[in-house]
Amino acid sequence: MTSATSFLFFAIHLGCIRAGKSSETFVKLECEEEYHGVYGQQSLLECNVKAVQNVTILTVTWKRVGGDAPLLEYHKHVNASTLGFKFAEPSWNKDNMNVSLLLTNTKMADKGEYECMVRTDSGDATATVSLSVTAMYKSPTMSSSPENCIKQNTDVTIFCNSTGGHQKGLIWWFDEFGTNCTGSAELVAKKTDDTLFSLSSKLTVLKATYSGSTNYSCTVHNTNGVQEGKASFEIPFVCSAGSKDDFASDSTTQWLAPVGFIGSLVIGLLAALLIFKRRSVQRARRQSTFPLMSKSFNIQYLLKNEKCFPIFPRQFT
Ligand SMILES: *[C@@H]1O[C@H](CO)[C@@H](O)[C@H](O)[C@H]1NC(C)=O
Ligand SMILES: *[C@@H]1O[C@H](CO)[C@@H](O)[C@H](O)[C@H]1NC(C)=O
Ligand SMILES: *[C@@H]1O[C@H](CO)[C@@H](O)[C@H](O)[C@H]1NC(C)=O
Ligand SMILES: *[C@@H]1O[C@H](CO)[C@@H](O)[C@H](O)[C@H]1NC(C)=O
Ligand SMILES: *[C@@H]1O[C@H](CO)[C@@H](O)[C@H](O)[C@H]1NC(C)=O
Ligand SMILES: *[C@@H]1O[C@H](CO)[C@@H](O)[C@H](O)[C@H]1NC(C)=O
Repeated sequence: MTSATSFLFFAIHLGCIRAGKSSETFVKLECEEEYHGVYGQQSLLECNVKAVQNVTILTVTWKRVGGDAPLLEYHKHVNASTLGFKFAEPSWNKDNMNVSLLLTNTKMADKGEYECMVRTDSGDATATVSLSVTAMYKSPTMSSSPENCIKQNTDVTIFCNSTGGHQKGLIWWFDEFGTNCTGSAELVAKKTDDTLFSLSSKLTVLKATYSGSTNYSCTVHNTNGVQEGKASFEIPFVCSAGSKDDFASDSTTQWLAPVGFIGSLVIGLLAALLIFKRRSVQRARRQSTFPLMSKSFNIQYLLKNEKCFPIFPRQFT
């Protein structure tokens, strides 16, 4: 009883759809209702002709709903297409039921409704699909002011810049201990000519030292808070064109930390051995200077140790 009723309902329902959609029941066009494109990338609006028997396509027309000129048209052997719009199938022909449209370089302005019309030797079909377009922020680039040769206990401004979003985004900051420093940063969002945004956030680290955080990360988020990029930046205490002094005391400890440490230990030990040998020969004549040398070696070790493994996190106010 119930199944009979539902069958009847189904049959009527089906009849209505068929009568409403097209006069011919043999051909239909299967597409998704909604597609999501990304700015600067390809977008595929997929539509396939479905028919109970083999059909031959006579015409295909893709156009914007409300637009006059077709974006892509196939009519017998004559076809026309607007730059940037083509059949998704590389060598499409009239026997190919995949009439999907490909946007080769999606723009923000491509957002909207599209209509696909197909005429075949067994009937016609039309479908409407919509395309939304989003733009993602690119991976941020980071820089500092001063650019390098940063002396300990001086203020450093770090920048985190990103472009490409279609809505105003956010930039968050973290130090190497995972502390959220976003509250101390200043964000400037500008609209570029392309209706896209550029973000620049600056964080000023007061009195930067080795013992504080030397590595800062920033993350870029879209307007809904979804992360779209990340970068990290090491405060450039390194002085590339620096004096001998800077090089010896500052730069090597940063990136060469483990190598430099072990290397200096080995060199130190070798030197100690050499000197020790030489001195021990002289020891018979002179009183040894070994205790003094041993002490200075220890001091150097402690200094290096402290620089390589900073343990006191900076406080942000
Ligand atoms: C439909 O087309 C396919 C491939 O083009 C072919 O193999 C098949 O025999 C055709 N069927 C009919 C009923 O024409
Ligand atoms: C459509 O036009 C392109 C060139 O614009 C041509 O290479 C292709 O063969 C044409 N397709 C058909 C089915 O006429
Ligand atoms: C239609 O063609 C496009 C582009 O070649 C392809 O990505 C898609 O999977 C095809 N759809 C079907 C149902 O074959
Ligand atoms: C980031 O933007 C700031 C301000 O516009 C600029 O001074 C800085 O050089 C930029 N940095 C990078 C890496 O683009
Ligand atoms: C970091 O701080 C910002 C601003 O105070 C906040 O909106 C964000 O949720 C924080 N992020 C994390 C991961 O704690
Ligand atoms: C800085 O920290 C990030 C993680 O927060 C890490 O991926 C990166 O390698 C670090 N950079 C340096 C030079 O240590």
